Amino acid sequence: MTFIIAIDGPAAAGKGTLSRRIAETYGFHHLDTGLTYRATAKALLDTGLPLDDETVAARVAREVDLAGLDRSALAQHHIGEAASKIAVMPSVRRALVEAQQAFSMREPGTVLDGRDIGTVVCPNAPVKLYVTASPDVRARRRYDEILASGSEADYEAIFADVKKRDERDMGRADSPLKPAVDAHLLDTSEMSIEAAFQAAKSIIDAAL
Ligand code: C5P
Repeated sequence: MTFIIAIDGPAAAGKGTLSRRIAETYGFHHLDTGLTYRATAKALLDTGLPLDDETVAARVAREVDLAGLDRSALAQHHIGEAASKIAVMPSVRRALVEAQQAFSMREPGTVLDGRDIGTVVCPNAPVKLYVTASPDVRARRRYDEILASGSEADYEAIFADVKKRDERDMGRADSPLKPAVDAHLLDTSEMSIEAAFQAAKSIIDAAL
């Protein structure tokens, strides 16, 4: 049987970095499920299809190839925005969740990160982490990242964006972002990524 590690949390909480490091450490396959929503949104944008037609969006979602997901092609802000809009549609979620569940069964183990992994995609995962940080800290991290990449950034705009994305992800009717009842909470507001990794590692080692 495979071993599943479910990692959820809001945007920019550090779950991507943490998930990749955990997957590398244990030799597990990693799926950033946000990319499946982003790839669906990008395919709609690229072909000029509407973002508000659930039937069309679900058809595109069923065609997403998990093997071809590349964050560098999907990182743009407007793609994330479009992704969070189509992520409210139940039939888009059903199509992507099915593909994510198939991925989660790969041997010897998998790490999936997103918003609804511990609650909906893999409710039986033996390890569930809910990684969070205050909106201010998350906005600050994103701001620093953009500056470090050599671009200009507006902190207030980023902060407003983080809040808006949280509201959309936590407020939707289908699979809202929330910790699973059996998730371990990891608040990284005042924690280095190294400290967060060590905390996660002790939780995983105790469950393996
Ligand atoms: O994590 P990332 O910012 O790439 O995700 C983009 C959007 O996809 C999120 O804002 C969220 O609305 C949606 N998403 C989701 N369920 C997941 C992963 C992402 O609804 N498991």
